Amino acid sequence: MSKAQQNFSVVTNDAEKPGPSQPSSVSGGRSLRSTTKRNASSEDTGPAPKMAAKVEEWSIESICRNGRRLDLNSDQPNAASVIKTLFKEVHGSVLSKLNIHPLDWDECADNELTPFLETFNKRVRAFRKNNPRDVLLSKKNWRQKDAKEFRILCDLACQLAIPDPTVLNTQYKGFSNETYGETNIETLQKILDTLDVKEDDVFIDLGSGVGQLVTFAAAYTNMALVRGIEIQEVPAGFADENAWQFKKLMRHFGEKPRPFQLELGDFTKKETETFLKEKATIIFCNNKAFKEPLMLKLREILQFCNSGTKIVVTQRLETTKDGRTSRGCYFTASADTVSLFTTDDPKKGNVSWTDKIVPYYLTTVDNMKPFREAAKKEKAEEQAQVAKQLRAEQRRAKKEAKKQ
Ligand SMILES: C[S@@+](CC[C@H](N)C(=O)[O-])C[C@H]1O[C@@H](n2cnc3c(N)ncnc32)[C@H](O)[C@@H]1O
Repeated sequence: MSKAQQNFSVVTNDAEKPGPSQPSSVSGGRSLRSTTKRNASSEDTGPAPKMAAKVEEWSIESICRNGRRLDLNSDQPNAASVIKTLFKEVHGSVLSKLNIHPLDWDECADNELTPFLETFNKRVRAFRKNNPRDVLLSKKNWRQKDAKEFRILCDLACQLAIPDPTVLNTQYKGFSNETYGETNIETLQKILDTLDVKEDDVFIDLGSGVGQLVTFAAAYTNMALVRGIEIQEVPAGFADENAWQFKKLMRHFGEKPRPFQLELGDFTKKETETFLKEKATIIFCNNKAFKEPLMLKLREILQFCNSGTKIVVTQRLETTKDGRTSRGCYFTASADTVSLFTTDDPKKGNVSWTDKIVPYYLTTVDNMKPFREAAKKEKAEEQAQVAKQLRAEQRRAKKEAKKQ
């Protein structure tokens, strides 16, 4: 074992082993927050060491106006790699202003972080004292087009919240409604851009997993409310921890997300049904693996949504599993569906479970559509009638002309 490993590994008492490596202990929808402190560091890959190692306390002074100091411990999951990513991806321009040489973020050992952060924090404090009106990090571009920083913060919050993501794939019955898979944050970003979201929009992710889409939507947009509901206890527990870590990271950069909620629950239950029918304006559902009975229920609920509601799915609402359009289907008669991302680069996947592009469909509820269609049909019939009469008159006129 390397020196670094000795320094940053943790002795764990077997009886107290945390939930994620023993998934069955994460039950009852309880938050993982209380268990994560006991997890091994990012370097703890070998067998449990004999000696208790020192737990490092890492603090990062904020470089933003109204930002708070970020405190992490070396025994939190992925804490070291989160700090390295922050410095590599976000703090770059600030380091040169403070005259600090960056570490080699891809190669450096975790124990190099402690002296580096001491210097960094000292220089940040000195900068603030000498330049009280200046900010070290400008966030001018954060909400513009790329929004890379918000994607990074959402990803890092997940890393801090989820010590072992493979746990997510061992919790459900194969090929069931609960099959887990993630939409890339970039994909959601494109969807939100396409929908051109507004401040009175209310977003919900039905089957929100660990909640990475909900936190991103709360960071990136100005929507009134962002919600996620997840039926399985393990991802919902991770989502709870994810929300907590996300808020902490956002506060560090002086950022306030839009109001958001991540909850454990079944979206087919009355409370969510009412919310979907009365409040939601954007409904997202990665329903690729949903079986026909759940699809039926989903259709049943969503057909009562308000006109204008935008529904984004991975399994079309108006078709059955074998691709047939169901006859007299509400989503054909009273909604319009278009495919999103048909031009995406097929070499770069948009979900976690395949490298291929998975199509997302946007269905916009349009309760006036049947009336418009009926009016259009009536008008077309009238026009056909007029044309028929005109042709008859022309024939008569031709006959008359021939007689004379
Ligand atoms: C494919 S995952 C999608 C995760 C996330 N929305 C994303 O796209 O990254 C589908 C999720 O739906 C959840 N789910 C299935 N039925 C549900 C229900 N009735 N209520 C709430 N969640 C449900 C599953 O447990 C699973 O985590």
